[in-house]
Amino acid sequence: VLAALAAAGMAVCVGCGGGGDKSTETSGDPEADRRADLRVGGGEDEAKDDRTLYARLGGEATLTAIVEDMTARVIADPRVNFERKNVKRNWLGDMYKAWPPTPENVEQFKRRMVEFLTLAAGGSTQYTGRDLKVAHEGMKITNSEFDAMVGDIKTSMDKLGTRTREKRELLAIIETTRKQIVEEQ
Ligand code: HEM
Repeated sequence: VLAALAAAGMAVCVGCGGGGDKSTETSGDPEADRRADLRVGGGEDEAKDDRTLYARLGGEATLTAIVEDMTARVIADPRVNFERKNVKRNWLGDMYKAWPPTPENVEQFKRRMVEFLTLAAGGSTQYTGRDLKVAHEGMKITNSEFDAMVGDIKTSMDKLGTRTREKRELLAIIETTRKQIVEEQ
């Protein structure tokens, strides 16, 4: 009963406060109030922003910048072995034919990665690549290699100032591809 009264009392007080007495709602300094509104309001608008992830990220320009940065990072990361050098296909020791990072190959990969992420993030484009399972077949990609690539993508987004909400959502999309890409362990 006491708790109920207290709650009701609070509600009444909040109601009263919002009424006639303007001095309880403003700091008395219109400039400071405007700045506070921008600060607080900005945060709320961000959380309420119901546009697609693609739009919230900043569209093609941002996605291209992320893919640009992460591709260089991932190719240079020995933990990922993006080129798939020294990957044995079977116990006979047959090797997977490594992917050479020629300018043409890198351009094609980046283009297809942008297309893939654009669609997954709710943008509009045509994906010209293969199914991800088919494209990564025989590469014997492990969970720890996949994790390292995810880490590199996160580093790229951190560097480019991607906001937390958009970063989480893009990483969640990438996580959904794990079962198509990882073959080993
Ligand atoms: C350790 C993780 C990964 C490795 C080592 C890897 C490696 C590669 C390589 C070497 C290619 C070029 C294949 C070729 O042109 O024949 C490729 C293509 C591609 N990868 Fe990955 N990849 C990894 C993870 C991912 C992830 C997480 C995604 C998506 C979120 C992804 C999306 C793609 C796409 C869209 C292509 C182009 C497919 C095509 O050309 O048909 N990859 N990957």
